[in-house]
Amino acid sequence: SDIWAVVPAAGSGSRMAQSQSKQYLPLYGRSLLDWSVAALLDYAGLRGCVVALPEGDLGREHSAVLSDPRVQLCAGGASRADSVAAGLGALPARDEDWVLVHDAARPCLGQAQLEALIETVTASGVGGLLATPVTDTLKRGSAEGRVTDTLDRDSIWSAQTPQMFQVGDLRTALHQAAHRNLKVTDEASAMEAAGFPVQLVRGAGSNLKVTYAPDMQLAAFWLKTLYP
Ligand code: CTP
Ligand code: MG
Repeated sequence: SDIWAVVPAAGSGSRMAQSQSKQYLPLYGRSLLDWSVAALLDYAGLRGCVVALPEGDLGREHSAVLSDPRVQLCAGGASRADSVAAGLGALPARDEDWVLVHDAARPCLGQAQLEALIETVTASGVGGLLATPVTDTLKRGSAEGRVTDTLDRDSIWSAQTPQMFQVGDLRTALHQAAHRNLKVTDEASAMEAAGFPVQLVRGAGSNLKVTYAPDMQLAAFWLKTLYP
């Protein structure tokens, strides 16, 4: 079976609060989106990659990374899950193929982490995601910010992307989640809700999600470290 990728990049980056959308912001010589896609294309075994863009951006002039013959563009949707579903719809993949779903907002994905995910998942046949054990003590708070309790963090992980699942299973899981109106913020949660097993694969803290403006400096630091 083949390995494909879908990159949801159809958000607007509202929390970044810049005039340009987050995925196009320049960072250490490339846009966030280009770094995220290039990390996937660096994996020689990748068959192809669909990037879901805001519909109005499809006609724009595209970067060299987005013009790669393995890259195909499609229009995203109103939510991240809709954009992933649109990308899966555009993917010329078979049900038994694998797909890596990776956020445009995670530009610092290292090859070692990507290969660890792919090797773990293809060896076991169980889909999975990169994740890191949480290091902070976790509090649940009321609307007023009063602590209600402290969670046992022993078994708690922070989910990252890429997340890697069999194409047919993921299509089924996302359809079911949409039908049942479930709030799915990642592919794994849709897979869990549909009853599929999901494997945690230990990633690295460097694979951060760029959400707020100061995250850009941290991401630039990690890119400089990864690509000196
Ligand atoms: N995304 C998408 N389609 C949407 C919303 C988000 O493809 N309708 C993508 C974003 O482009 C990003 C990834 O999903 O690569 C993770 O989302 P997030 O970090 O929340 O990015 P934005 O939604 O753009 O940012 P914000 O929530 O601050 O507006
Ligand atoms: Mg968002």
